[in-house]
Amino acid sequence: MNRFYVTTPIYYVNSHPHLGHLYTTLVADTVARYKRQRGFDTFFLTGTDEHGLNIERAAEKNGLPVKQHVDNIVNEFKTAFAPYGLTNDHWVRTTDDYHKRAVQELWRRAQANGYIYKGKYEGWYCANCNEFYTENDTKAGDDGTPICPTHDRPLDRVSEESYFFKLSQFQDRLIELYEKNPNFIRPETRRNEVMSFVRGGLNDLSISRVSVKWGIPVPDDPEHTVYVWFDALSNYITAIGFGNDQFGGEEHFQKYWPADLQLVGKDILRFHTVYWPAFLMAADLPVPRTVFAHGMWLSGGRKMSKTLGNVIDLAVLRKHFTTDAVRYFCLREMVFGQDGDFTYETLLERVNAGLANGLGNLASRTLTMIGRYCDGVVPPPGQAEAELTARAREVREAVAQAIAQFDREFDQYNFSRALDTAWSAIERVDKFLSDAKPWNLAKSPDQRGSLELVLSTATEALRHLTVLLAPVLPNATEEIWQSLGETGKAGEVAPNSLEWSESTGKRIGEVKPIFPKLDKTKVMDEIKQEEAASQAARTEENKEQQPAQAPVEAAQAVVTTPAASLSAAEPSYITIDDFAKVELRVGQILTAERIPKADKLLKFTIDLGEAEPRQILAGIAQYYEPEKLIGRKVIVVANLAPRKMRGLESQGMILAASVGEEGRPVLAGFLEEVPNGAKLK
Ligand code: MSP
Repeated sequence: MNRFYVTTPIYYVNSHPHLGHLYTTLVADTVARYKRQRGFDTFFLTGTDEHGLNIERAAEKNGLPVKQHVDNIVNEFKTAFAPYGLTNDHWVRTTDDYHKRAVQELWRRAQANGYIYKGKYEGWYCANCNEFYTENDTKAGDDGTPICPTHDRPLDRVSEESYFFKLSQFQDRLIELYEKNPNFIRPETRRNEVMSFVRGGLNDLSISRVSVKWGIPVPDDPEHTVYVWFDALSNYITAIGFGNDQFGGEEHFQKYWPADLQLVGKDILRFHTVYWPAFLMAADLPVPRTVFAHGMWLSGGRKMSKTLGNVIDLAVLRKHFTTDAVRYFCLREMVFGQDGDFTYETLLERVNAGLANGLGNLASRTLTMIGRYCDGVVPPPGQAEAELTARAREVREAVAQAIAQFDREFDQYNFSRALDTAWSAIERVDKFLSDAKPWNLAKSPDQRGSLELVLSTATEALRHLTVLLAPVLPNATEEIWQSLGETGKAGEVAPNSLEWSESTGKRIGEVKPIFPKLDKTKVMDEIKQEEAASQAARTEENKEQQPAQAPVEAAQAVVTTPAASLSAAEPSYITIDDFAKVELRVGQILTAERIPKADKLLKFTIDLGEAEPRQILAGIAQYYEPEKLIGRKVIVVANLAPRKMRGLESQGMILAASVGEEGRPVLAGFLEEVPNGAKLK
């Protein structure tokens, strides 16, 4: 039997799960379901990366033993992922004993082959990305200390004894690997990037730290801790039986390794396509067949990240969208390999168009008509006049072609194209129904043959497409499958085992609304409120985690409360009378527009419950789209002396929190209804 092994990166437990993490896991889950459905003996692995200085520091800050801290976050990941019914065969944790023993075994093999030596490391290290930097890779901060290019924070100076991996000896073998196996790095653009990086020459890699304790001890030298990337990358083999007795040990490992598909975000491509194959080669192990780097989900044009505070909260997402809707959107909207912008508006539109109006509508109209005109039993393909017969045959052929094309695209990991193909078939069947008008055919008994041909064709098309889409929409397709009167599970039926017209004579089940249409305005209103609350919670958390952060410059005409000013060591109190001097009122944004040549400012008219709305300017244009703010309730400092900016008068200030290192403004608001002009005290 063919076998297939698919992996996701293991997630750092130094941040809470968000859409970026869920995304890779959903893609891997879909691939695993797809392969199983086509008869592959599939193993799907995901898990968590739990060692390193950063995690040790985070636990310390929370006042928890490190293991307890990581257990908590691992549970958070598992809970956030649980509703999605992931079919992973195992969840690897780098703190598991079998993993630790196996990492040591990999180390020993590489060492025995002469690829690991002891030396002294002197240089710069970022605990956030767990990477060593040379001064050439970085820019210097104000005091001359190099700054991490990714996290924009001062690097730690590290000077210590360290084990090194002879990465420099792998340059030729890596180039040969990339050249001989064009599928090793995908997509093509990423392959070119990595090739030119490796052609530029490779330095030996420091792979142990004495100053880090939370990790795996180096074999026979426990003062040293294994470098987190050596530890983390090994998970892909340790969790399937390499160097331990997990899952049947060596035999199981031999069965599934090398992996067929290792999914990673493009930000961690180098670790997976340079270090990882070199570590494996050093231990005489085969390298994976394909490492596929996907793009990033952006939010507001920037990569979603905890530091920027623009992550999509999985609880909010879960509350409003079915898990199938999220899967559909992730696979169809993001061209796999490229970045994609996430907005709830687009998600709502796509789900309504593709699922409620598309597949959902096709299923419910077909099944309803079988109930109404055929006593709930799928009719045989009846005799009809030549033209209708030809059109029915064309539909059947189009569906067969779409199924074949879907597989071709899916095998190349072109998920969005595969789904486009399936949706063209759905539209085709829908149009066939609309053109043939079965509701008219049902009116005259002599059109019975035509009616039966139309409904039988639509049912068969629906049945085939349901099986095809099972890996992507596992819940909805099972519901449609039941409604079609089928037994067993759609996800377990191989699409190429289906025969046309097999459904004849089946009694359909209950017709349920599978993808109810979402009310865009209502859902968006709720989401905005929930997002504001969850952002406020995150701001609180960031504040606690970044006590030393320097205050950011307040955006013009926006009162910001920099995190650091709240945690200053010396409290400086104001009296209640001082506070009473500030008049804070609820306002509602009536209009919002950009100001020509002022790229930071937005101009608002705001209703404060007064005779006339006020004109207020705010420096938030880089973070908010004006049209989306109309109707929103905000908090305004109402008794601030008017001031002119860019020749325009601003008659107050809008309150916002200042989030993250760049001081991103997040507008303050209310979860409950409040009248315009209400005073805050
Ligand atoms: N622990 C390492 C991986 C070790 S694998 C041996 C790590 N963890 S991570 O939690 O920071 O990131 C895990 C994955 O989530 C990466 O593939 C990363 O690309 C992905 N994503 C994080 N944010 C993302 C988006 N905004 N969009 C899409 N994926 C993103 O790196």
